[in-house]
Amino acid sequence: MNDIALSKHVPVSPQRRTDYGSFRVTPISPHIGAEIEGLDLSQPLSDALVGELRQAWADWMVLVFRDQHLDRSAHKAFARHFGRLHVHPMHHSRSSEQDSEVLVVKTTAQSAYTAGEGWHTDVTCDAIPPLGSALYITETPACGGGDTLFANMYMACEMLSPTLRSFLEGLVAVHDGALPYIGSYKSQPPEGGYPRHEHPVIARHPVTGRQVLYVNSGFTSHIVGLHRWESRAILDMLFSLLQREPKLHCRVHWRPNTLTLWDNRCTQHQAVWDYYPNSRYGERVSMVGESALTT
Ligand code: SIN
Repeated sequence: MNDIALSKHVPVSPQRRTDYGSFRVTPISPHIGAEIEGLDLSQPLSDALVGELRQAWADWMVLVFRDQHLDRSAHKAFARHFGRLHVHPMHHSRSSEQDSEVLVVKTTAQSAYTAGEGWHTDVTCDAIPPLGSALYITETPACGGGDTLFANMYMACEMLSPTLRSFLEGLVAVHDGALPYIGSYKSQPPEGGYPRHEHPVIARHPVTGRQVLYVNSGFTSHIVGLHRWESRAILDMLFSLLQREPKLHCRVHWRPNTLTLWDNRCTQHQAVWDYYPNSRYGERVSMVGESALTT
């Protein structure tokens, strides 16, 4: 019997802080996600406070701020503390009056789909994918529901056997925007098509230095250098980890005027559309850094 292959152990996460000087932190789950209390994000934030928020973000990956009252410019100003604002590739077909830095997340009884219903990391088809996103939900479904699940991809990486991990460490995978934007959302591609780029299968987070499993079922089409059937089998096995291991997850239950900030480099997320025919409304702003993840 191979102990590693049968192991059900939970990797030991680094000790995560709950004592930050400027705000209170309540974990949502032991391994990912925390509620932050005591901050009004519509007000200017000092450099010291932003520094502490960055530390809490690195520690918890998903930060939830309740009872925030933000107009678009305050939402964007908050996001800019973490990177320059991203323009979503699906915005190529929007009119010039629409704000290209804001992604409207709106689901009604008439919607053909809800954005992000399936585990994914945002826009990994880009050469430099967003490093994070700030989703501000102002309308929640009258019937309840509409939560978002998040998964800790450090821990997913640590759950792989050392043998599989070292095999994956040398590989890169293709992330293709056509998969969700044409395949699921049936949108018209821009001239030249949606972005398609390669990223390492196991990458390193530039802030924490920790390894993450960096393939996602939303965008990753195949692993380079393998037969397609080999790639399919390996990707499906890796994707199934998120379905099989709820200990990787936290679940954010939205109330109106909640903003959630997630780190797109070490998490995946999935929107739960369990509220049809009720509606849900929010706006997402994403941030990008100077470079994509490397090994
Ligand atoms: C997204 O994928 O960014 C949407 C998440 C959500 O609506 O909960």
